Amino acid sequence: MTFKQRTHNCGDIRLLHKDSEVVLNGWIHRVRDLGGLWFADVRDRTGLVQVFIDPEKFPTRADLRNECVVEFTGIVAERSEKNKNPDSPTGDIEVIVSDYQILSASKPLPFPVSDEAQMESVSEDLRIKHRYLDLRRAKMYRGLAIRAAANQRIREFLTKKTFLEVETPIITKSTPEGARDYLIPYRQTPGLWYALPQSPQQYKQLLMVGGIERYFQIARCFRDESSRADRQPEFTQLDLEMSFVHEEDILSLNEEMVKHVINGVIEEFGLEKEPVKDFPRMTYAEAMLRYGCDKPDIRFGLELFDATEAVTGCEFGVFNSTIEAEGRIRGVRYPGGSNLSRKEIGIVEDFCKEFGAKGMASMAIEADGEGIDIGNGLKVRSSIAKFFTVDQLRAVVETAKAEAGDLLCFIADGYEVGNNILYRLRLEIGDRCGLRDPRKLAYMWVLDFPLLEWDADGQRWSSMHHPFTMPKVEDLHLMATAPGKIRAQAYDLVCNGSEAAGGSIRINRPDIQAQMFTLLGISDATQQERFGHILEAFSYGAPPHGGIAWGLDRLIMLLTDTENIREVMAFPKTGPGHDPMMNAPSSIDAQQWAELGLKMS
Ligand code: AMO
Ligand code: AMP
Repeated sequence: MTFKQRTHNCGDIRLLHKDSEVVLNGWIHRVRDLGGLWFADVRDRTGLVQVFIDPEKFPTRADLRNECVVEFTGIVAERSEKNKNPDSPTGDIEVIVSDYQILSASKPLPFPVSDEAQMESVSEDLRIKHRYLDLRRAKMYRGLAIRAAANQRIREFLTKKTFLEVETPIITKSTPEGARDYLIPYRQTPGLWYALPQSPQQYKQLLMVGGIERYFQIARCFRDESSRADRQPEFTQLDLEMSFVHEEDILSLNEEMVKHVINGVIEEFGLEKEPVKDFPRMTYAEAMLRYGCDKPDIRFGLELFDATEAVTGCEFGVFNSTIEAEGRIRGVRYPGGSNLSRKEIGIVEDFCKEFGAKGMASMAIEADGEGIDIGNGLKVRSSIAKFFTVDQLRAVVETAKAEAGDLLCFIADGYEVGNNILYRLRLEIGDRCGLRDPRKLAYMWVLDFPLLEWDADGQRWSSMHHPFTMPKVEDLHLMATAPGKIRAQAYDLVCNGSEAAGGSIRINRPDIQAQMFTLLGISDATQQERFGHILEAFSYGAPPHGGIAWGLDRLIMLLTDTENIREVMAFPKTGPGHDPMMNAPSSIDAQQWAELGLKMS
């Protein structure tokens, strides 16, 4: 079909184009019939413009339906003052149509892409099944545009810093990052399998052995784990690796890059965000103590307190038995929570129970009322207050840095169990109190992660990051004696309570790497079979090296204020890794089964 190509983008036409002839290409966003006068909004990726179709000139417009693809020719005219629309960039003008052609008809859509209010009630599965229609919404285009701009800024920054962009294989061998592998059968020799990489970790280290020195890649990673709000089985990392560096070099380069990429995108798109300035640092141990987790949201305070010492010797059975069992009495302040009714406190307690709490004790701190007077103008009101002396209550209030109006929420339990509950409770209180300011991007480094964690199910040590992470030099001697105490040269970049990036200095000596595999319970034979290539590579002169990977999807989530990773991907998977649009995964035919030498058991 021949068609006239556009002279202007729909969203670009202004009063200065008045009286000129324009050709538009796009979609009919919405047709309106105002008492016999026909108007349509025409849409392309740049925006909307109103066209006027004279019924005398075009006695029928039956073919002009929503979402059909059109070519319009017409003259730009100024709208009368009362018809101007100050909310639209093209609201001063309209195009008086002299000719049009339908380039492609459209059936009625399964959901109204032109109506954002109605789109809110459309199911996500339906949107993803027809993603090619969902993508017509300006909001979706903008998300992809922000993503493209971030990628472009990353490339610009790293190229200037003399990094080389290198593509590494997708069809490869397992690279463990703690998830299950996606496997591909090898047709030539039935019984052999490729794996999709969970990350380019091994390849990027081998590039360092290869003398590349500074590598990056915007890399697709594959992890067979079920999708969650911030997790997809197929996702994108900004992956980088550097040789002859210390931890500090990687941290400072990344700080500079975050500013270049994020502050640049904020400015370019006029996002309602404050530019990123600071990168506070905290050890893993300190983050767990102060926030109960290794990815604290530091947009607000409300740090956890530990009242164990303050309440020791009290008469409250729950606290005493916890202290006897070497647990801790820790808690968090809930500003304004002293007004909560018993029922409302019950809801907070139920929230804690969802995450394994046995209960949640509480004390309301008030300036007046019938509570126990602890001096300094403060009173403590609680059903458990009677179990404490005034001195103990005062010590609790001081430890918690409580103020009048607070509700102190206590979890008595083991340190780790308490952390897992209290970190979530702190975020819940932050949300309830409106303290998680969407304009802020609070980045921070969490440093000195433990190298290993004990896997109680498997009764063995497993890597906290991955097995290629270098222990801290001063902890190397603990490998034989106290593996659980070894700290790693590993770091995470955290933003607003989410893990934005993670990396480490790597092991570059074959003896330490083999020792590490052994610690993880990998036999010599399996080491050779699975990782022989990397052990051998390290024996030919491997430079000291380290790197990091950013979760790019998560970065865009932060910038676009979405809590759903699927919103920032063009074609995401739903729930258990389905693509309802392509209908993947799908069955294969008998011949393919035979070719691959596969049999259903
Ligand atoms: P890690 O496994 O921590 O490190 O991944 C790096 C970052 O990738 C993001 N991420 C994800 N995003 C979406 N969906 C997922 N399923 C998912 N899993 C991880 C997170 C995370 O911080 N090879 C190492 C990096 C290194 O050591 O250099 C690695 O992959 O934002
Ligand atoms: P109980 O003695 O079980 O009736 O509990 C008395 C109060 O202590 C209730 O408010 C419980 O929610 C609370 N509680 C019970 N177990 C714990 C716990 N492990 N940590 C904090 N509070 C608890």
